[in-house]
Amino acid sequence: MRPVRGREELEQCFDLWGSVFGEGRGFFQSRLEGDRTYDPATTWVAVVAGEVVSAAQIFPFDARWGFTTLAVAGIGSVATRPSHRGQGLALAVLSAQRAWMAEQGFPLALLFARERAIPLYERAGYVRLPFGTTVAWAPDALVTRSRYTVRRVQPADWTGIRSIYDAQTAPLGHVRSDAFWTDAIRWTKQAEPGGAWLVAEQAGRLAGYFFGRIPEAGGAESGPTAEGRLIRRWEVVSHRDHPGAAEALVDHAHRQMGAPGGVPLSLPAGHVLAAGRSVSPGRHRGMWSLVSAPALLRAMRPVLVRRAEDAGVPALTWSERPDGVRLAWAGGERLLAGRDLLEAVILGRADDPWLGALFPRATPFLWSLDQF
Ligand SMILES: CC(C)(COP(=O)(O)OP(=O)(O)OC[C@H]1O[C@@H](n2cnc3c(N)ncnc32)[C@H](O)[C@@H]1OP(=O)(O)O)[C@@H](O)C(=O)NCCC(=O)NCCS
Repeated sequence: MRPVRGREELEQCFDLWGSVFGEGRGFFQSRLEGDRTYDPATTWVAVVAGEVVSAAQIFPFDARWGFTTLAVAGIGSVATRPSHRGQGLALAVLSAQRAWMAEQGFPLALLFARERAIPLYERAGYVRLPFGTTVAWAPDALVTRSRYTVRRVQPADWTGIRSIYDAQTAPLGHVRSDAFWTDAIRWTKQAEPGGAWLVAEQAGRLAGYFFGRIPEAGGAESGPTAEGRLIRRWEVVSHRDHPGAAEALVDHAHRQMGAPGGVPLSLPAGHVLAAGRSVSPGRHRGMWSLVSAPALLRAMRPVLVRRAEDAGVPALTWSERPDGVRLAWAGGERLLAGRDLLEAVILGRADDPWLGALFPRATPFLWSLDQF
């Protein structure tokens, strides 16, 4: 179990992923080759008799947390050749990666699991936390009276798109670097047939944007059977002052797609599109893992200090524990470890006034574009 060595092993990873996942080999290859920050140390493999038989990729990203950021190891592309399954290889790769992530100073890891793989990830130390919602989107007569104009993106829009995204990402949002945006633009154009970036504007000002894969009207993927297709790797974000822009954008995409029956939209929790619509628990199966409590505490410390000062938490002190953090203040103390700590950091705590001041309620804001 080790990071990939050389081009040939990487090619074997593309072969493995291409044969195991529906997206095809080219998708995985362009995903890594299109990422100029890609580091071969993030591709982990199990090698048996000189052949790559199991692999998993780490996609590092920074998550906003208060006024600071937390380094998160996003785990994806976990696969074992059918001939080698059930021998603990995927679990061993995940464990080896974990030791490396801790060494590299990642406090947290996150992955999006398929239902059948959940027990495997639980054994590897990941816990499921609530993540996003699914909204039933149906054509809405009101939207036709929208005050927004929707058009295809132009190069001059990118700065505005980025500032809308940045302003709207609450904890724990993805901090998207320059490289992320330029690579995403390039990569989605190459890898996603039908991929479209749209913007909504009002009086010449950018009010929101949409990215998604819009199947052609009348094509094999359109019509009511297109359910679920539109929502693969998509996002729709509106400017704070223009919540209606999100509706106008989805409505536009939906009409273009020609799915009369409506589509389910998978959204970050608390998204503006969920208001007044029928909502069910999200299909995302986000699973988090605490990689290093000391690294987490180090990263959170400035924010905790500020929050304690602002809320007047009396005489707050904290100390590291191997699997968590012990917080103490005048009149109380709490050990936050394992799942409790993850919940506090990612969702916030409302069960105790002082804990609530340190870990206010938050909504993870991660789009399918941010997933791995
Ligand atoms: C999931 C997968 C990577 C497991 O690889 P592996 O090397 O056999 O895993 P391990 O031997 O370490 O652990 C086996 C566990 O994986 C899970 N698993 C087994 N077959 C699986 C499958 N077809 N799909 C999903 N999970 C499976 C089970 O929880 C199993 O536990 P069990 O042995 O107690 O029944 C492998 O089955 C695979 O490549 N599946 C297809 C791709 C995939 O679904 N990847 C996960 C995406 S989230």
